[in-house]
Amino acid sequence: MSAPVWLITGTSNGLGLVLALRVLRAGHRVVASVRNKTKAAAAVQQIEQAGGSVIEMDMTESQASISSKVQAIGRIDYLVNNAGYSILAPCETITEKDATLQLATNFFGPLYTLQAALPAMRAQRSGTIVNVSSVAAQDPLPACSLYSASKAALEAASESLAKEVAPHNIRVLIVEPGNFRTNFVSALAQASPDPTTVPPHYDDPVGNVIRKFLTVHGKQMGDPEKGADRIFEACTGTGMAGHLTGNVSRLVLGSDAHTRMKKSSEKFVHELSLQEETAASTAFE
Ligand SMILES: NC(=O)c1ccc[n+]([C@@H]2O[C@H](COP(=O)([O-])OP(=O)(O)OC[C@H]3O[C@@H](n4cnc5c(N)ncnc54)[C@H](OP(=O)(O)O)[C@@H]3O)[C@@H](O)[C@H]2O)c1
Ligand SMILES: *[C@@H]1O[C@H](CO)[C@@H](O)[C@H](O)[C@H]1NC(C)=O
Ligand SMILES: *[C@@H]1O[C@H](CO)[C@@H](O)[C@H](O)[C@H]1NC(C)=O
Ligand SMILES: *[C@@H]1O[C@H](CO)[C@@H](O)[C@H](O)[C@H]1NC(C)=O
Repeated sequence: MSAPVWLITGTSNGLGLVLALRVLRAGHRVVASVRNKTKAAAAVQQIEQAGGSVIEMDMTESQASISSKVQAIGRIDYLVNNAGYSILAPCETITEKDATLQLATNFFGPLYTLQAALPAMRAQRSGTIVNVSSVAAQDPLPACSLYSASKAALEAASESLAKEVAPHNIRVLIVEPGNFRTNFVSALAQASPDPTTVPPHYDDPVGNVIRKFLTVHGKQMGDPEKGADRIFEACTGTGMAGHLTGNVSRLVLGSDAHTRMKKSSEKFVHELSLQEETAASTAFE
């Protein structure tokens, strides 16, 4: 069998770049997408030197444009929807332009990419689709309304799709990273309003959360190399995370993410236990 082919989006930096290089080291083939090859020249050079190829694709392109780029690749065994960013701001003040851009990048772009990859995966009766989400979808902090919404939309669609494509032997994995030391916070600072412009009535908690995010840049506990290792293993059924393949719909990366998700799921169970009676009280006699 020839080497598996991966399409990984958002490889100019961070988790996407590290994963692309990890996959190439394993001898698999990689098509990596960046928004702008000139701007991402350093990453493009690393990927090409390691034997990968690079295409230009912005997640905000039209469905038709994304579709033709993805279908031109032909066989895809692993699609990793990794490209994404976060805007941090008080929900009340987010503009239509910023809201649209957040959803286009983190939800519609990955959706169109995946739609375009599915016909070939169905024809070959195999494939794995990985959507990189965030712990923010399961435990949304203040200031993260639109980012959490974009990732939660991605997760809900993923869970529905998983059931649709299971009969075609196509697997779905949602990756839930905690804080990883990438360009994420610096990109977030560029996409978000200056925290000093947050209205005083939202300074606590929104301003506080934004300031806290900005101070973790470069100090996040998550190592992208190790995160990429676990993603590779959970996709290919090898190594330390190999036993999770097919057994989990969510791959949780980072003890910070694990703790937050555990707490939020315990809160959910507690809230359900408070209202078994009231919930059941609304049926016809
Ligand atoms: N690092 C964390 O703490 C963390 C936590 C939870 C989830 N995540 C998720 O992990 C994924 C990877 O992020 P990262 O941490 O590796 O951050 P990163 O270093 O900022 O990388 C993000 C990548 O996405 C690309 N991108 C952004 N907007 C795009 C667009 N409109 N079209 C195409 N590509 C676009 C960026 O390209 P440019 O260089 O062109 O901007 C970059 O290559 C994201 O989905 C993020 O939401 C990260
Ligand atoms: C790509 O990036 C280069 C260098 O930053 C910039 O000069 C150029 O205008 C960008 N191209 C597009 C299409 O945005
Ligand atoms: C990935 O996200 C898209 C939405 O952007 C969704 O339609 C799809 O079901 C998800 N796919 C998988 C396999 O997780
Ligand atoms: C994972 O799934 C495989 C079969 O798909 C099974 O043999 C194995 O015991 C499962 N592992 C765990 C930890 O559930």
